[in-house]
Amino acid sequence: MFFSYQDKFLFAEGISVRMLVELYGSPLYIYSQQAMLDAYAQFSQALSGLSHHIHYAVKANSNLSILSAFNQLGAGFDIVSGGELARVLEIGASPQNIIFSGVGKSQAEIAQALSEHIGCFQVESWPELERIQSEAARLDKTAPIAFRVNPDIAIDSHPYISTGLKENKFGVPIESALELYLQAASLPNISPMGIACHIGSNIDALEPFEQALDKLLDLFAELIEAGLSIQYINLGGGLGLKTSIQSYGAMIQDRVQKFKHRYPEENWTLIIEPGRALIAEAGILITKIEYLKTMDEKHFCIVDAGMNDLIRPALYEAFHDIIPVYQSEHFTQTYDVVGPICETGDFLGKQRTLSVSMGDYLAILSTGAYGMSMASHYNSRPLAAEILVHENKHWVIRSKESYRDLFAKEQLINLLG
Ligand code: LLP
Repeated sequence: MFFSYQDKFLFAEGISVRMLVELYGSPLYIYSQQAMLDAYAQFSQALSGLSHHIHYAVKANSNLSILSAFNQLGAGFDIVSGGELARVLEIGASPQNIIFSGVGKSQAEIAQALSEHIGCFQVESWPELERIQSEAARLDKTAPIAFRVNPDIAIDSHPYISTGLKENKFGVPIESALELYLQAASLPNISPMGIACHIGSNIDALEPFEQALDKLLDLFAELIEAGLSIQYINLGGGLGLKTSIQSYGAMIQDRVQKFKHRYPEENWTLIIEPGRALIAEAGILITKIEYLKTMDEKHFCIVDAGMNDLIRPALYEAFHDIIPVYQSEHFTQTYDVVGPICETGDFLGKQRTLSVSMGDYLAILSTGAYGMSMASHYNSRPLAAEILVHENKHWVIRSKESYRDLFAKEQLINLLG
């Protein structure tokens, strides 16, 4: 579709991937703009007819050009740090369309967000709410808030990315939500206006979302009856890549329609915060094969991208398809595809059947989300360049770092005089 073969060469939309990697160097992230537009359109269509808003989760991929594209499509943003706030303001996002999530908002971040008049703080604890109250009082502002409730729902995902269980650090227990909202409403500089949750990431079943949404709708009814004026319900992000956006939207429409029969007079907006489902499939990571190495019975394909470029396999044992940039007729072998970093955990794929030779390029698929945004400089490796492609055009949206960039912020002190 967005990445396909033409005469055995992999193309990103209308551009040869090999041409790009030869021009900009390896490893290289390449994004298809059409893939982003399509994913966004699918969410919009799936929720059409329902008052809704899509807030892109910035952490998935925070490149300014990617943010700008979503901004132009009409998305709002879910941010989790002052740095992400600076990014979305930089691309001209309307502060009203910014939601601030996260368990550890600092005093400075809260003040910064209040001064910019962001749309809402998603509050994860009572001490955080007290801090927001005191900052809002100091700055003479009213803080719009939602509590992020923890609906205690088990999901089948990697334990590091499931967040909706009681034992996780996220949110406030849903059972105590009513009391917290009433207390919050009595504070002078706090205005409760939403309900939020986020049950985890990479969720490929619809039931957990369905259960969470039902719990949020019940809580909404409870809060309305208690006299609060709640304007939005935020189901969070978390949709995996194996479930269609269409069926996710249909599930939401169904639950909301049923609820609307009970509360026809209530006007509110449904918010979702997808990250991965909007951007993962739009990105590929290109890497060059440095060596093919055989040890006993095992074959290694040693490439020039490592866990510093893409940490998901090492951190979550995440599976990413790996395909050749050129479909050669070379003999086929089963390889562990590993990076150059001095760690056994530095692998990109295990037991992959490939027909390749040294010097060839591979494409690691579905790496548009949590690829570059989780990259690091480990082993003093400069960050890869990022290219955005649309039809036959391409743009460098981040240039490759130089070695100087690696230590530009360091001060050389001669300790021994
Ligand atoms: N909203 C909140 C409050 C979140 O914490 C997250 C992700 C999202 C939305 C977006 O979730 P998504 O739709 O992308 O699943 N690094 C991991 C994923 C961590 C997700 C953390 N929170 C990975 O590479 O799989």
